[in-house]
Amino acid sequence: MNDRSHPPADLSRAPGWVRHRKLLDWVGEMARLAKPDRVLWCDGSQAEFDRLCAELVDAGTFIRLNEKLRPGSYLARSHPTDVARMEDRTFICSANKDDAGPTNNWVEPTEMRGTLARLFDGCMRGRTMYVVPFSMGPIGSHIAQIGVELSDSAYVAANMRLMTRMGRAVIEHLGEDGAFVPCVHSVGAPLAPGQADVAWPCNEKEKWIVHFPETREIWSYGSGYGGNALLGKKCLALRIASVMARDEGWLAEHMLILGLESPQGEKHYVSAAFPSACGKTNFAMLIPPAAFAGWKVTTIGEDIAWIKPGPDGRFHAINPEAGLFGVAPGTSESTNPNAMKTLRANVIFTNVAMTPEGDVWWEDMTREPPARLIDWQGREWTPGCGRPAAHPNARFTVAASQCPSMDPRWEDPKGVPISAFIFGGRRSSTVPLVVEAPGWEDGVYMGATLGSETTAAITGKVGVVRRDPMAMLAFCGYHVGDYFAHWLKMGKAVTRPPRIFRVNWFRKDAGGRFIWPGFSENMRVLKWIVDRCAGRAQGVNTALGMIPRYEDLNWAGLERFERSRYEEIARVDGKDWGEELRSHDELFGKLAGHLPAALESRRGSMHQKLVA
Ligand code: OXD
Ligand code: MN
Repeated sequence: MNDRSHPPADLSRAPGWVRHRKLLDWVGEMARLAKPDRVLWCDGSQAEFDRLCAELVDAGTFIRLNEKLRPGSYLARSHPTDVARMEDRTFICSANKDDAGPTNNWVEPTEMRGTLARLFDGCMRGRTMYVVPFSMGPIGSHIAQIGVELSDSAYVAANMRLMTRMGRAVIEHLGEDGAFVPCVHSVGAPLAPGQADVAWPCNEKEKWIVHFPETREIWSYGSGYGGNALLGKKCLALRIASVMARDEGWLAEHMLILGLESPQGEKHYVSAAFPSACGKTNFAMLIPPAAFAGWKVTTIGEDIAWIKPGPDGRFHAINPEAGLFGVAPGTSESTNPNAMKTLRANVIFTNVAMTPEGDVWWEDMTREPPARLIDWQGREWTPGCGRPAAHPNARFTVAASQCPSMDPRWEDPKGVPISAFIFGGRRSSTVPLVVEAPGWEDGVYMGATLGSETTAAITGKVGVVRRDPMAMLAFCGYHVGDYFAHWLKMGKAVTRPPRIFRVNWFRKDAGGRFIWPGFSENMRVLKWIVDRCAGRAQGVNTALGMIPRYEDLNWAGLERFERSRYEEIARVDGKDWGEELRSHDELFGKLAGHLPAALESRRGSMHQKLVA
């Protein structure tokens, strides 16, 4: 490691508004370890954001997009080895291996601390260490949590300003001794004196995303991308928060939250968990079909929900995030017009293609691709050249406040009351369009056994069912069996628990075609769900739970969708379910002593009703 002669980072330059001794001491300690050239405390102002972006343009990390076509927006191209969240490099370092459970990578904490001490020693040389104070949730909300991320990436600091409430107001709220989650991030690419930087620094050899659940700490090394580096999102708001929620009696979930308002002004909020690549953002911003005049879907959040029991005996949820970090490919005027409006200005795009006019493009944004593009790696691209123009996991980062469907209460510090939980996955067979669980425990079983078929964007393998309990496989910070037990317990923490539903937009016919049109037509299912919550809608009881009959759904404007087609997607087939239950056993078999008895007995009774 080079030994630069510059003085250690000057902490006396912490601004006057920082009065938190423990925070100052920790930043000092981390600066002595990582040895950045400078320490910069982010105040979260627009001027600071503009300065960061200008520096990123100068460094070649950002390309300023055409000011007329995409005002205030930038394109970043990551290193081709640093394009996604890395589950195999993500670790839950609880004191006991058993507490991390079978779905997490684990390393003994002392050993991991040794590794981190080696990796972080001098890892920020030649760079600036940004101190990024952030609130997950409206500042001061009793459901919110505060984190401070130290990062040597200006790209991270700029993205964090869009994704969280970031800056001086958070420090002021912390006061002299408020609690915060310490998050340390380095791209792992120190610079020797005089060494020129690259546009996307990262460490090509080593990447580590590490959580210490007992001490509630996050350390991330080697990647500058997405959930690996924007530590408020998956690391804090899900992995660490799930542990807090277990200990404190609430839920930290990989769920969108949306509101549905009837023409008469009756409003319900629902929260829905979908694994990646199931159209979660599209569902959160759904525009009802024309026949549903006067109905309105509003968005509270599109990825994460923090949910606490309220004094009225209901669960109340907030979106801990302030921005969207969404997948660009597939987003279009037909799949998600609200997202397209959100993206008109003030966006950081990562790994999308660029048009000759200096605008952006990605696969399926338009029916016809442009004749020429620069692809996500900066190469010339023409239609039919055999390569995707945008990386399949290309992203946009944008303030949620720009989204036209945001609910008037999306920043309500008290949260919104939840009427229903929905679990959805991508299943070409077996799982009906919608089914309501008979009760809380059955609903927990539905969530616990959630499975989704993989897409090329996630694993490279297509169509393999991956069990993704509550869509939290990659995000639960403790033993997944204990997480199920926590869910079972939380049903008793409120007197009016939400009803629980399972949905599946992705069932295919014998010819391999999707049967259900999806997108805005999902409104029909959403309305049935909300009508069930209001005690209005009917259905038929099956071994899985209640399923609407054809006549129980509103078909106005979709009369061409025949009863026989509907019956195909509502069907519960005993043979398919025999296989399905066997695959639940594979998951349950890994839980050893941690599988709650209620789920085991539900498994048995389903087998009896469906298969035997
Ligand atoms: C995400 C994911 O990036 O769920 O939000 O993978
Ligand atoms: Mn997600």
